[in-house]
Amino acid sequence: MADNITWHHGKVTREDRVKLFGKKNKVFWFTGLSGSGKSTIAVEFEKRLHEQGHPTFILDGDNVRHGLNKNLGFSPEDREENIRRVAEVVKLFYDAGVTVLVCFISPYRNDREYARSLIGDDFVEVYVKCSLETCEERDPKGLYKKVRKGEIRGFTGVDAPYEEPTCPEVTIVSDIVGVDESVSACMDLL
Ligand code: ADX
Repeated sequence: MADNITWHHGKVTREDRVKLFGKKNKVFWFTGLSGSGKSTIAVEFEKRLHEQGHPTFILDGDNVRHGLNKNLGFSPEDREENIRRVAEVVKLFYDAGVTVLVCFISPYRNDREYARSLIGDDFVEVYVKCSLETCEERDPKGLYKKVRKGEIRGFTGVDAPYEEPTCPEVTIVSDIVGVDESVSACMDLL
């Protein structure tokens, strides 16, 4: 931890940026099992927002783990650090006036609450709820197959925990609700 550091204030605030863009920004934090549909929904949601003139950005677990977080694995400590870093990045994008769509399993309640604490009232927790059976059936990256063959250990929902949100702003039951309807549910919270 660094000592002797001082916050340097700028002359342009988040509110100034929001005024310039003409769109109020928020953070939509998608949480749920691998294969639940977080990224699929976020991609369509971003397209809809973009068409309406919102400045947007998606932060996706798989992508962020290719760069900023490529030194992290899936131990509980690494997952915590993964979410801590991304929460700080989200805060930067939020202060930049951008609507951020965040797609991480983010299995621990405490870590999601930390992210919420950085953003405040504009934090929208979207629980993409999906049964393990459906996620496993979809298996878009072939990972569940590997898990069942014993090639991956500590996989969320199988042999690593997922702590369900207690009071998310939105719950999307993606076993039965389609992408368009899911996007509309998110749009309602803009
Ligand atoms: S988190 O738990 O730390 O929030 P994150 O969203 O960044 O996870 O990454 C999850 C993605 O990593 C999954 O969608 C999957 O593609 C891949 N993955 C690889 N190993 C695991 C694992 N053991 N548990 C969960 N996801 C894994």
